[in-house]
Amino acid sequence: FFIEWDLSMAEMGGYPHYMLKEIHEQGGVCRATIKGRVHDGKVDLSGELAMDEETIKGFKAIHIVACGTSYYASLIAERVFERWTDLDIKVDIASEYRYRDSKISPDTLVVFVSQSGETADTLAAQRKARESGAYSLAVTNVQGSTLARSCDDFLLLKAGPEIGVAATKTFMGQITSLYLLALYIAKIKGTLSDQKQKELTDEMIQLAYKIETILEREPSIEDLAWKFADYKNFLFLGRGMSFPVALEGALKLKEISYIHAEAYAAGEMKHGPIALIDPNVPVVVVAPKDSLYEKTLSNIQEAKARHAPIIAVGFDGDERLASDADHVLYVPSTLEEFSPFVTVVPLQLFAYHVAKKRGCEIDKPRNLAKSVTVE
Ligand code: G6P
Repeated sequence: FFIEWDLSMAEMGGYPHYMLKEIHEQGGVCRATIKGRVHDGKVDLSGELAMDEETIKGFKAIHIVACGTSYYASLIAERVFERWTDLDIKVDIASEYRYRDSKISPDTLVVFVSQSGETADTLAAQRKARESGAYSLAVTNVQGSTLARSCDDFLLLKAGPEIGVAATKTFMGQITSLYLLALYIAKIKGTLSDQKQKELTDEMIQLAYKIETILEREPSIEDLAWKFADYKNFLFLGRGMSFPVALEGALKLKEISYIHAEAYAAGEMKHGPIALIDPNVPVVVVAPKDSLYEKTLSNIQEAKARHAPIIAVGFDGDERLASDADHVLYVPSTLEEFSPFVTVVPLQLFAYHVAKKRGCEIDKPRNLAKSVTVE
């Protein structure tokens, strides 16, 4: 194998921070990760994965195990694996999985998602899965990493080197790779019609352009970030595909701006977080027009009734959202399954510009490391 990175990929390219450069590379990451893997409306990973069709047909369950942002990417993938395949799916944090008594059988595919491939807890979880005889697959950005070498198989996200401690483009590469894996397994197991596979892969190819459209809207996201940079607490809400996006949006904000940000599944709001809502707690609601949209709108109204400033992320043309929220960050619309690819981008830019306004050390936030190689 060749290392596909060169030095220029790790330079700043005129951006003030690596994080901003990496956010702007995400359309390209999505495109590069899909390139050569979709043919005639179907995903083909047979040339790179070691697992053959018989092995795939034998899988009954899939566990996806990761830490940090990689865990949130895995939660998004969980929702498409359960929709597109017949696999019984479980997603866990590596530091939990390694000590739990989950039943891992030889017909379980255990996927380890790690940008670096060196996270200590993820490596320990992999050793546990190997001892149980399960088939292990690394989804990583570093092909020579310990994780890639320890697993039975690996799938590369083609993000190039990520320098900013807060993961952005590798998150995009992870969800793209995991979606490809889900579509590939669905094809082999026959759980999606040819027509559905074509519809999904056609849309997947469009995502890079949609991401790039959002990046052109950065000035308005920056304006909004400046208005909100002095708040002390934020609540992020989302349902379905948007719940992990809310988690990731809150994580980005706390990692680089040191603002307390909590994310909740919007339906859980009434079980606690609603007690916190007042005019000093902005609520960021991820609200693409999907099958749960009406329910999410009712959560916006509940927050509004308690005078919280509301920032919504929604699809272009959704005027109803504009009448309910104080501010809307619009993104191009896509199929329900793909909404995280577009809704996460304004949240990354929002966190970046809030941190910049607060004068934070964006690329190297305090107390955090790019790769956590100790327990
Ligand atoms: C650290 C990094 C995060 C990353 C996490 C998992 O906490 O700061 O950005 O998401 O580790 O890293 P991995 O390399 O396993 O994806």
